[in-house]
Amino acid sequence: MSVILEADNLVKHFRTGGGLFSKAGRVRAVDGVSLRIEVGETFAIVGESGCGKSTLARLLMRLLDPTAGEVSFDGQQVTRARGKALSTLRRDVQFIFQDPFSSLNPRLSVGRLVGEPLEVHAPEMGRSERREKVAELLRQVGLRPEYADRYPHEFSGGQRQRIGIARALATGPRLIIGDEPVSALDVSVQAQVVNLLADLGRDLGLTLILIAHDLAVIRHMSDRVAVMYLGRIVEQTTTDALFEAPRHPYTRALLDAVPDLDDRGGATRARIEGEMPSPAAPPPGCTFHTRCPHAQALCREKVPMLEAAADGHATACHFWREIEATPRVASRRIRSDAAHARLNLYRRATEGAEIIPVATNGRPSKSPDNREEDT
Ligand SMILES: Nc1ncnc2c1ncn2[C@@H]1O[C@H](COP(=O)(O)OP(=O)(O)O)[C@@H](O)[C@H]1O
Ligand code: SF4
Ligand SMILES: [Mg+2]
Repeated sequence: MSVILEADNLVKHFRTGGGLFSKAGRVRAVDGVSLRIEVGETFAIVGESGCGKSTLARLLMRLLDPTAGEVSFDGQQVTRARGKALSTLRRDVQFIFQDPFSSLNPRLSVGRLVGEPLEVHAPEMGRSERREKVAELLRQVGLRPEYADRYPHEFSGGQRQRIGIARALATGPRLIIGDEPVSALDVSVQAQVVNLLADLGRDLGLTLILIAHDLAVIRHMSDRVAVMYLGRIVEQTTTDALFEAPRHPYTRALLDAVPDLDDRGGATRARIEGEMPSPAAPPPGCTFHTRCPHAQALCREKVPMLEAAADGHATACHFWREIEATPRVASRRIRSDAAHARLNLYRRATEGAEIIPVATNGRPSKSPDNREEDT
């Protein structure tokens, strides 16, 4: 496998305060992340709100400059890209935003929104060719081509996210980064958009970086997963290994917090003890020690490095070997299967909906969910 995107020890600290009433400080949003993303894979990043996922995503595509560290895309430095190199990066790497309600300019028609990236990156394209390309892109994401004349407010959240995906596909990208692309959508619509992304990824040979906090989505879509806590990766491995045998106490707690199948309202899920500390004042040593049931004196003093075992499964915990031998609070098999079953439930729920077959490169869709939702 060849590497498409590589991050080396990325750091992003934001300066805060320093005004009349507050002391100057630093928020360690991303605090030393290294990654290698392979061509064609779906790589998931998971972690609680505030752990640095969005900041990391923005660093990876140079929407932010890092405090330290390097990113390279296709062997080219992203961090220092200028001129043509930056323009190529903007064409090849696209972003899908979390909130389909605020990410689309309400004053532009769908046709303009989807066609705009073509105006920038394919200026040689004539108007009628561009219109045809926009129609094809709308079809690819399960929307009617005649929607090109309408405006974002005329669409549901799921449809707006499809417009966002069509816009991202317009430049023919090689890598798409989705920052919680379904978390603002109704549960019934989430699976449709998840399956659309999975189908597009496979059919177009895209590499996907998917930021999600829903473990069911991650299990369903991703090949590998990185778990983040307070700006660092604490565990990274294949999706199967993560769900079958998580090693870091934080990951184990996250998986145990997955809602059960009958937990429709999210009322009875287990919680990870305590609050995540502020990234403006992270605890010394292992930053998870304030919440870790296995913490020992060493954990408060020494930062555990993210180290890969012989099987490639990487964990940042001094005691993961000892902890792996201890039973988990909840039955992991039941819990993670429950998450998977929940996604299957979503799938079945959409089977009766009105269908517009989605043509991806002119081929019919493989998934029953990869089509327009009309809710
Ligand atoms: N521009 C900024 N200025 C100051 N702090 C920021 C800024 N952007 C993000 N942060 C802080 O960095 C931390 C990580 O944020 P973020 O990357 O958005 O996390 P996540 O996407 O995992 O929820 C949070 O504490 C957030 O408040
Ligand atoms: S290093 Fe210590 S505190 Fe950190 S996760 Fe491992 S056992 Fe827990
Ligand atoms: Mg975020």
